[in-house]
Amino acid sequence: MNIIEISAILINKMKRILFMENLCYNRTNGQILRFVNLTCTQEGKMSKLLDTFLKENLTELKEKGLYNVIDVMEGANGPKIRINGKELINLSSNNYLGLATDERLKKAAKDATDKYGVGAGAVRTINGTMDIHRELERKLAEFKGTEAAIAFQSGFNCNMGAISAVMTKRDAILSDELNHASIIDGCKLSGAKILRVKHQDMEDLRKKGKEAIESGLYEKIMYISDGVFSMDGDVANINGIVEVCKDLDIITYIDDAHGSGVMGKGAGTVKHFGHAKDIDFQMGTLSKAIGVVGGYVAGTQDLIDWLKVRARPFLFSTSITPANAAACIKAIEIMQEDTSLNEKLWENSKFLKEKLKALGFNIGHSGTPITPVIIGDENLTQRFSKRLIEEGVYAKSIVFPTVPLGTGRVRNMPTAAHTKEMLEEAAKIYEKVGKELKVI
Ligand SMILES: Cc1ncc(COP(=O)(O)O)c(C=O)c1O
Repeated sequence: MNIIEISAILINKMKRILFMENLCYNRTNGQILRFVNLTCTQEGKMSKLLDTFLKENLTELKEKGLYNVIDVMEGANGPKIRINGKELINLSSNNYLGLATDERLKKAAKDATDKYGVGAGAVRTINGTMDIHRELERKLAEFKGTEAAIAFQSGFNCNMGAISAVMTKRDAILSDELNHASIIDGCKLSGAKILRVKHQDMEDLRKKGKEAIESGLYEKIMYISDGVFSMDGDVANINGIVEVCKDLDIITYIDDAHGSGVMGKGAGTVKHFGHAKDIDFQMGTLSKAIGVVGGYVAGTQDLIDWLKVRARPFLFSTSITPANAAACIKAIEIMQEDTSLNEKLWENSKFLKEKLKALGFNIGHSGTPITPVIIGDENLTQRFSKRLIEEGVYAKSIVFPTVPLGTGRVRNMPTAAHTKEMLEEAAKIYEKVGKELKVI
């Protein structure tokens, strides 16, 4: 044991004594700050250590203005929502096609509940796979243009399970620096060496890929990228990724949470660029354009067979409900049979973007319906969003650390369910607040 390890043990022991004595400890300089009121708010015995930890950290978050108060919708998540009794134009959901409230999906979910009950009853491998789960996977594979697919309970746990089922501590993962949190966590869980690649920089990908191969340190190398980046709306360079990764024999993983239902007439970013057979993992969620909840990977039969025996959320967590599966199947059928919702989504996005741009807002370089209004200063961004909500537009601020410092923005998600009147009204409110806060 070295001196650092011994010091860490002593400090932890000291902290424990202080906590037990109801004293509060400053983590940066070690000073005793104050007596803490350890009165528990619920009956029963609560750990003093936990209670102190929670009180200290919650207070710190609130003092720094980083504590997120979550708004509650009084009803469904549609193009208009009600919060605190007030109706607002909703520009914050990922319900791109408006399917979350679609009558056809609701009917499919109700019928499936009547036939199968409300729960799947067990994890997929033991007693939780119903024909409706298999049908969903067959449909997903067909839609994505692959041999097979596997469904998970959420996009987040899909990334956690799928990445760690294939990559190990003997491998390396090249990961775009702006990838989603669930990708980052999936990479960490795998134990593989994580190598950050500059955002959408194919030269950097090639350079770091070559270096990783030449180092001889890794058995397998994977490159992971969002298909559509959720904060800026830019689209991954699938052609470039395929070219570099084919040259170097790097496994490819595209998280198309924001591309599915949106790009490629709904089939996603990978199919949009004609590379359904070239990307190893086509990952997606069932919770955004599809309007329900869940995640999936589409790929070769061998890949899916492997994930079904090694992806831990699939093996150790109960499958999605039959109603969930049925609604997702219906959503895919709708997208396959009729592209009008997809067309309406793009039309509405173009309309809102043109309006906001004409007013003088900086809307970045999104190639998708995601429409950021980039304001810059964090406090101003938060005030801007607050004023929009007061005036009737529900559009939330996104600031550091979700986006780089100084690039605070209000993110807008027009959907197929919005009417032109709603978007027109939203633009008017933007104009009013923009002038009031001198953003335009
Ligand atoms: C790129 C990306 N991947 C994965 C997820 C997680 O998906 P889900 O909400 O289905 O868990 C999200 C959700 O925000 C996402 O944006």
